[in-house]
Amino acid sequence: MMAAKYLTKATDLAKNFIVSVLKAGDVAIDATMGNGNDTVFLAELVGETGKVYAFDIQERALQQTEIKLSNQQLIHRTELIHSGHENMRQYIHEEVSVVMFNLGYLPKGDHHIVTKAHTTIEGIKQGLALLKTNGILTLAIYHGHPEGLGEKEAVLAFVKTLNQKLFNVLHMEFINQANRPPILVVIEKK
Ligand SMILES: C[S@@+](CC[C@H](N)C(=O)[O-])C[C@H]1O[C@@H](n2cnc3c(N)ncnc32)[C@H](O)[C@@H]1O
Repeated sequence: MMAAKYLTKATDLAKNFIVSVLKAGDVAIDATMGNGNDTVFLAELVGETGKVYAFDIQERALQQTEIKLSNQQLIHRTELIHSGHENMRQYIHEEVSVVMFNLGYLPKGDHHIVTKAHTTIEGIKQGLALLKTNGILTLAIYHGHPEGLGEKEAVLAFVKTLNQKLFNVLHMEFINQANRPPILVVIEKK
């Protein structure tokens, strides 16, 4: 059986959108740093003159991400913040082109430490407030773990209420796959 090439997984689809939006010199936010893969991805796209702010509540995530960024000579393009994304406006005072959320738990970490509906929704509100016109916010939502289903429903209920005069909200999901694969939400500020 051949692997899919275009419709692969929610996180890849999020990256496809981000690649077409994020340019050299732009500012981006990785709202869920984790092991730093997305921070590296964003730091490569913003180039030498851009900047990536990355958030996580786990010290371990900052350590892993710092190592990854240093190995790839990207650390100077980033600011790693040991705080929740629900506090992002305390740390960021400029407009951003992309905000990326990858919800759930830290892979290879403590699976009990997960993103939570109320802090995720507050993070989305703050991220949308920081977005510039035609900037995007992406959410890969994992609902296979115990708290994930409630978070998915709460996030979808919230994003459905966003004013269509201000935002376009897209929801994508694989409807023929087993084991509840992550879904994707992309929001563009008009
Ligand atoms: C699925 S992982 C992210 C994967 C990551 N983007 C990567 O490239 O490896 C989700 C992360 O969100 C973090 N997290 C949980 N609650 C958070 C919050 N309120 N603010 C920021 N990060 C949070 C977890 O600690 C975990 O590391």
